[in-house]
Amino acid sequence: MQQQQFAIKQRYLSGYEQPRQWIDFIVNDCQLDLSNIENQEWLCTNVLQYPSCKLYPLSHDYCQFVLKELIQYLEALQQKTEEMEIFDALYDSLVQYQTKTNTHEWFHRIFIQQENPNHEFILKVFPEFKQVGLAMWPSGFFITEYMLHNKTHFQNRRMLELGSGIGFTAMICHEFIFESNHSADKECIVVTDYLDSVLWNSFENMQLNHIPCLFEENQVSSLDSKEDASKKIQIAKLDWTTCTLEQIQTIQPNLLLAADVIYDTSVISHLVRVVDLCFTCDAEMECLFAITKRNENTFALFEAECAKRGIHSEVVPFSNPSPHFYVKFRDSTIITLRRFFKQKKDENLAFVA
Ligand SMILES: C[S@@+](CC[C@H](N)C(=O)[O-])C[C@H]1O[C@@H](n2cnc3c(N)ncnc32)[C@H](O)[C@@H]1O
Repeated sequence: MQQQQFAIKQRYLSGYEQPRQWIDFIVNDCQLDLSNIENQEWLCTNVLQYPSCKLYPLSHDYCQFVLKELIQYLEALQQKTEEMEIFDALYDSLVQYQTKTNTHEWFHRIFIQQENPNHEFILKVFPEFKQVGLAMWPSGFFITEYMLHNKTHFQNRRMLELGSGIGFTAMICHEFIFESNHSADKECIVVTDYLDSVLWNSFENMQLNHIPCLFEENQVSSLDSKEDASKKIQIAKLDWTTCTLEQIQTIQPNLLLAADVIYDTSVISHLVRVVDLCFTCDAEMECLFAITKRNENTFALFEAECAKRGIHSEVVPFSNPSPHFYVKFRDSTIITLRRFFKQKKDENLAFVA
């Protein structure tokens, strides 16, 4: 039962649960009898009023939505079950949410089942805003799922992540992938994005989770063994539209990562140019993209831009037998990119619009 209680809590605190699915999970999968007032009390006190949510709240709208569905479910059950009571504090909580307006920043909590189910990653997101890098995307979860299933493959690598958003990939590297005795020039991840708000938010997320990192607001700088070796994570600005070969040479990645970055047709050619620069820096570099195909034409454009530069994509088979996350990944795939012709190291290709 303890494991099931964990799962009930973790699903709700992720902030991504569909209320109806969550209730079905409680009743059908966990067989928790919700007509029992003690079970309702447990749910209210330990889950819906989870203590750290006072300081780092979930979205009010989400909490309100879940509570409404739960109360509706209990009231329907009450009609069929003699002498069933409903725990009063559930109504009180709902009233509280109804009288508050939603905050702009929310905090999701992610627990990684197979690794350390007690470890809680707190992710600060601003999903109401237009800036996509202030939210967490399904491909972002999917790439970390892939990494957790293939941990050794990501050890001792110099990773560069493009369009990192809130920085979750780096958090996973810090917690489960990096080996503590290696210096940053041997294994690191450079988390990059182009908007100050996104970079600052990923920095705040590292601080919130007590993860040491270097923050280079303006540009990437080399992570060598002379610097603080405990800081294997660097957050830095890297804009695909202006990125130079020098910036890539500073990092010298041997593994390029990106999740959900193929969505805006106006920057696809720039994104592919950055990939090309990375291959120019190291022709043997590995490149993994997690993609969510929302629009076939957008992906076709990405492939066409790649083809212009001799870059080909291939799907990486990954069936995901035992997921680490409760969060569902909507149609995500991992692809690997390879460049089939070599260029001179100093050749900084012109922008192809
Ligand atoms: C859909 S989000 C994905 C974020 C994160 N990788 C995830 O999966 O949760 C796309 C990311 O690409 C970034 N991006 C968009 N245009 C960019 C550019 N020109 N240079 C660098 N990053 C860019 C956005 O800021 C955002 O963080």
